[in-house]
Amino acid sequence: MTTDHLTITPSVLYFGTPVALLSTENEDGSFNLAPMSSAWALGRTIVLGLGKDSQTAHNLAARPDLVINLPEPAQWPAVERLAPLTGRDPVPARKQGAFRYEPAKFEAAGLRPEPSETVRPPRVASCPIQLEARAARVRLDVTGEFQVIEAHVLRVHADPRIVVPGTQHIDPAAWSPLIYNFRHYFGLGRELGHTFRSETARLSARGA
Ligand SMILES: Cc1cc2nc3c(=O)[nH]c(=O)nc-3n(C[C@H](O)[C@H](O)[C@H](O)COP(=O)(O)O)c2cc1C
Repeated sequence: MTTDHLTITPSVLYFGTPVALLSTENEDGSFNLAPMSSAWALGRTIVLGLGKDSQTAHNLAARPDLVINLPEPAQWPAVERLAPLTGRDPVPARKQGAFRYEPAKFEAAGLRPEPSETVRPPRVASCPIQLEARAARVRLDVTGEFQVIEAHVLRVHADPRIVVPGTQHIDPAAWSPLIYNFRHYFGLGRELGHTFRSETARLSARGA
């Protein structure tokens, strides 16, 4: 086989997925907030991958309610303020030296909590998309290092700025996720096209 590709062993395989801020409930009834990006949607289920020593994974195994808050690109500094923090006390061995325990994550990030409607953890008020959800299945991955969580979405909140007026659709031209690309933050570039199943494209064609 001929190829000009290099065979490499990168330290991470974070090839560019949206950042989510997960709010969950701690043992004492306070709330934790943690950035993550190993997440994707299967219908109304969101699959999440979380280190098993994170406070978030512990919370979800015991108290399944959560909010999956989706920040926009301009919010990356707030996400990064959360990056060196853990809600777990004592700090897990693997994180010692690099992370510190912080029980008040919303305050530390400078993000305002806003009450949810169907779950106990609050939403992040400034995140344009907020998914109230409940973990339906929590299990270890094959390596035993991560919890794979299947969370069922109960309610979707969207900033009116990103909703096609008068419809149930998120406007892909108005919404931009914050992308975690090999540990660097990016927004989206300009639109390249759309799939044949796009409902918003059909709406604009009808309006034209
Ligand atoms: C942008 C970003 C994305 C991250 N993605 C993940 C992820 O998908 N899964 C994970 O376990 N940790 C991820 N982390 C690391 C967690 O945020 C970190 O382990 C944190 O300490 C968890 O907080 P907690 O212990 O309070 O739950 C990510 C961190 C950042 C900054």
